[in-house]
Amino acid sequence: MQDGVVTLDHKSVYRPSEEVIARARIKDWDALSAYAAENPLAFWAERAEELEWFKRWDQVLDDSNKPFFKWFVGGKFNIVHNALDRHLTTWRRNKVAYIWQGEDFSERMIAYGELHREVSKFANVLKSLGVQKGDRVTIYMGRVIELPVAMLACARIGAVHSVVYGGFSVEALRGRIADSQSKIVVTCDGAYVNGKVVELKQIVDDALKPGDLPVEKVIVYRRTGREIGWVEGRDHWWHDLMAQASPNCPVEVMDAEDPLFILYTSGSTGKPKALLHTHGGYAVYTYTTLRYVFDVQDEDRYWCAADPGWITGHSYIVYAPLMNGVTSIMYEGGPSYPAPDRWWSIVEQYRVSILYCAPTAIRGFMRFGEEWPRKHDMSSLRLLGSVGEPINPEAWLWFYHNVGGGRCPIMDTWWQTETGGFMITPLPVVPLKPGSATRPFFGIKAEVVDDAGNPVKPNEEGYLTITVPWPGMARTIYGDPDRYVQTYWARYPGRYFTGDSARVDEDGYFWIIGRVDDVLKVSGYRLGTAEVESALVSHPAVAEAAAIGLPHEVRGNAIYTYVILRAGYEGTPELAEELRQHVAKVMGPIARPERVEFVTRLPKTRSGKIMRRVLKARALGLPEGDLTTLEE
Ligand code: PRX
Repeated sequence: MQDGVVTLDHKSVYRPSEEVIARARIKDWDALSAYAAENPLAFWAERAEELEWFKRWDQVLDDSNKPFFKWFVGGKFNIVHNALDRHLTTWRRNKVAYIWQGEDFSERMIAYGELHREVSKFANVLKSLGVQKGDRVTIYMGRVIELPVAMLACARIGAVHSVVYGGFSVEALRGRIADSQSKIVVTCDGAYVNGKVVELKQIVDDALKPGDLPVEKVIVYRRTGREIGWVEGRDHWWHDLMAQASPNCPVEVMDAEDPLFILYTSGSTGKPKALLHTHGGYAVYTYTTLRYVFDVQDEDRYWCAADPGWITGHSYIVYAPLMNGVTSIMYEGGPSYPAPDRWWSIVEQYRVSILYCAPTAIRGFMRFGEEWPRKHDMSSLRLLGSVGEPINPEAWLWFYHNVGGGRCPIMDTWWQTETGGFMITPLPVVPLKPGSATRPFFGIKAEVVDDAGNPVKPNEEGYLTITVPWPGMARTIYGDPDRYVQTYWARYPGRYFTGDSARVDEDGYFWIIGRVDDVLKVSGYRLGTAEVESALVSHPAVAEAAAIGLPHEVRGNAIYTYVILRAGYEGTPELAEELRQHVAKVMGPIARPERVEFVTRLPKTRSGKIMRRVLKARALGLPEGDLTTLEE
């Protein structure tokens, strides 16, 4: 550790230095928090004023049809106008929007003006293929600049993008295309990750093979140049279409409440749900949260190391940074490829000032040792961030000392696909406790309650709920409003139920414990146990399967599965391995079980539901709890 750096331990409270306070945009957290709590609508209206509207809203919040809240009602708006066009009349036209580095060390930089041009051209491409306002477009690409280009092009013309994470595989992609009824799929010929090529186009071809999906056109961006399959008439090269496209494409004037995108996420059932976000409220919320929490300034080099295919990427790689006119870093490949200092070399090379990533990445780096970050000059960093799962104090401290050099506050941001943006989070001036996401953001009220919905005492564990509406909230589950009500609003009427457990300490600091439903967080990725089980059952040898998450040192959780075989199959190690690969093939490598165990029975309730908590307790050697409903 460097000289003069304060050493913290688990119980310390980090207080921001004078330097941090001096440059912070929001210096008085308490005052603004009190103002927003008393005047939430005025607070949000003032934030909305900072963006450009084609027509001002008539009403900030319409809560007449709960829980289907509407924000900035009557306002005319387009998020892309605010992300791109707005900058063209300023010096930011020539400011770099994205600095991109390929896994192969190739580099690209794109300025706001040029990004606007590319987006407009691709918007015209989509129009020429018949895409209209409200149509869904599935985007399944690697981490290339064309991924945000495709998202923004959709939003520009009022089409609804549905990005499917490039780490998902055939069945996951297929289910999401079917549910969204997309007529267009945008993909790449492949993606580079960890020195290998992910055959994205092949996966698209396999997903579309049965011929029962409504996809009419597949647009392929060339990244690897490798040989790929081709369906004449259906498939088109990105570059061919772009070569003929005009760069003039006016922005579609949208209602504030018109859909912007859908994004699938896992819940308690096997069917992923598409959370729907809208142009106006989502823009105001993501713009504001990034501005206040990461305190982005024009001179920053901001790097959110997530994947654009998840909500973190949507909100904090694409929309919020662009609306704030920030220069972002985008890196294509694996974090430790070709060596464990790849990220640190990027920080040094581009003088990154803000780094936002997942605890699982940090824990992975911890294993390689502190000599790797030490090889690089990371003095450009001023703020760090964490998201996706609870950050354990050990990882927090490692990040703080070895990456942040003991200078950089860590913004541990708690939020969800459903919330659109940060909900419980510090600001640079907020004192930090390692492992706590601190306090609710301005205008947000969170409460931890017991089964009956009564607030629990300080330090008691309970369910995390949100008691107010906020502009960034998802508006519904696309195509299934009943499920939206049931999942989030029925358990505690009048409150949004997060699915997480938490406790609040005597200082009002929130400590997130984890999911209380059948959602797993594996390396920060959100997966449903039911999806893994249905992938297993799709194998001919499997009669029944149960999946649970068990603690894992790096990944947070690892997937353990219990399988009952069909008659005639033998539970050999080879078959276990085959089943692991089968899950990876149909769902994606992120869902590959750590372990497949063959069993003859599974603990079930009398109504036939698998009691996963019993499996988990048994695996961990813990008391099995209330077994009155167990059938055996
Ligand atoms: O369990 C919480 C965990 O991630 C869940 C949301 O997952 P997803 O929709 O994929 O969004 C992840 C990126 C925003 C939450 O229900 N989670 C997210 N951030 C944190 C967290 N748990 C603890 N601390 C966090 N900072």
